[in-house]
Amino acid sequence: MLTTIGDISARVGENVRLGVWLYNKRSSGKIQFLQLRDGTGFIQGVLVKKNVTPEVWESASGLTQESSLYVEGRVRADERSPSGYELDVTSIEVIQLAEEYPISLKEHGVEFLMDHRHLWIRSPRQHAILRIRGEITKAIQNWLDEQNFTLVDPPVLTPSSCEGTTNLFHTKYFDEDAYLTQSGQLYMEAAAMALGRVYSFGPTFRAEKSKTRRHLIEFWMIEPEMAFVDHEESLRIQENMLSHVVQHVLEHCQAELKTLNRDISYLQNVKAPFPRITYDEAVDLLNREGMEFTWGEDFGAPHETKIAESFDRPVFITHYPADIKAFYMKPDPKRPEVVLCADLIAPEGYGEIIGGSQRIDDPNLLEERFQQHQLSQEAYGWYMDLRKYGTVPHSGFGLGLERTVSWICGLDHVRETIPFPRMLNRLYP
Ligand code: 4AD
Ligand code: MG
Repeated sequence: MLTTIGDISARVGENVRLGVWLYNKRSSGKIQFLQLRDGTGFIQGVLVKKNVTPEVWESASGLTQESSLYVEGRVRADERSPSGYELDVTSIEVIQLAEEYPISLKEHGVEFLMDHRHLWIRSPRQHAILRIRGEITKAIQNWLDEQNFTLVDPPVLTPSSCEGTTNLFHTKYFDEDAYLTQSGQLYMEAAAMALGRVYSFGPTFRAEKSKTRRHLIEFWMIEPEMAFVDHEESLRIQENMLSHVVQHVLEHCQAELKTLNRDISYLQNVKAPFPRITYDEAVDLLNREGMEFTWGEDFGAPHETKIAESFDRPVFITHYPADIKAFYMKPDPKRPEVVLCADLIAPEGYGEIIGGSQRIDDPNLLEERFQQHQLSQEAYGWYMDLRKYGTVPHSGFGLGLERTVSWICGLDHVRETIPFPRMLNRLYP
């Protein structure tokens, strides 16, 4: 029976057998240190020449980086080791001596690492990021499930756009035109009318020609949609969900955050309620801070960063001008030139991580918007039906998983947050 490194703390003093890869080794002539990993964690194996058979010593000496093996040994608690434990190796069974591994332990350029992404993900840093990504997903889903949301899966191939037509991926669907989904939202609205509180979690696609540290072509979104929930209540749900996620990661991913050298003092503040400012207030704030900005424009990354600097946790910017937001957002009844929406801006320059709004529920107004935006009855007729047959106030939002991971991990670029990033100029591996 194999033990895993993740479970090693319960096995101190016992002999265990592990299936591992060798990611590094050191030798001092009489002692060899094997850095081992098995996916669940990292541990140092120690061989003292006089304590092991010559065969075991030789086989350790011949190991190359990323060789796969079974090792047996005794688990020892060791305060000096980063994991807290070491393995006194007594036997080695080589599965494969790896060929010369392209990713040596020296520094490599990003493009080289990206070309070897299928191997790069084995490194301790990438391992930590992907583990945190997994925990974030789990925390979101657990929280939503506990709040009685139902997971619903919208289609990936769609006949129409959700977030505007400028960045759609086109494909043929036999003889028809089809597009890869930009957002499952419109379908989630239909699902909310059937199931009340729903969420989707899936890949979305934007053919965006932007090459920034925040943009991916393919990214994953969590999209809750809620019947009988207004803009205000939606904000409360968003801040509670995100607080839960951050606190969950702080609790369950201490080792990974340490591997990433994440300054967690920024994350400890992330507790609901989050501050809210209106778009108007944000414009004033920018002008006060000496950044020229005209009402009616959309914020760019530098603006979002500047706004975020005034707060110690994520901040909601609400009530954007209708003209710069999507067709489905409900106008503020008191001031119809702005809509009941919010973007949640993460601290430390990570920008928008959630976009959400209350949706138009009035069939006549939606009809008007269809005309303004030249949306065809053919493609969107079904969406109109949702307002004809028992329309209700409802709201929803989309959280971008990769931007959230990037922020929580404190990364320089979203490309490290997803196993195989799809970016401008990159479809390989
Ligand atoms: O603000 P967006 O475009 O909102 C929607 O798609 C709504 N239909 C969601 C909804 O209400 N159900 O995108 C939502 C989030 C953004 O806040 C951002 O975190 C992320 O998706 N996002 C991206 N992440 C990585 N790369 C990109 N190119 C992204 N575009 C948006
Ligand atoms: Mg947005």
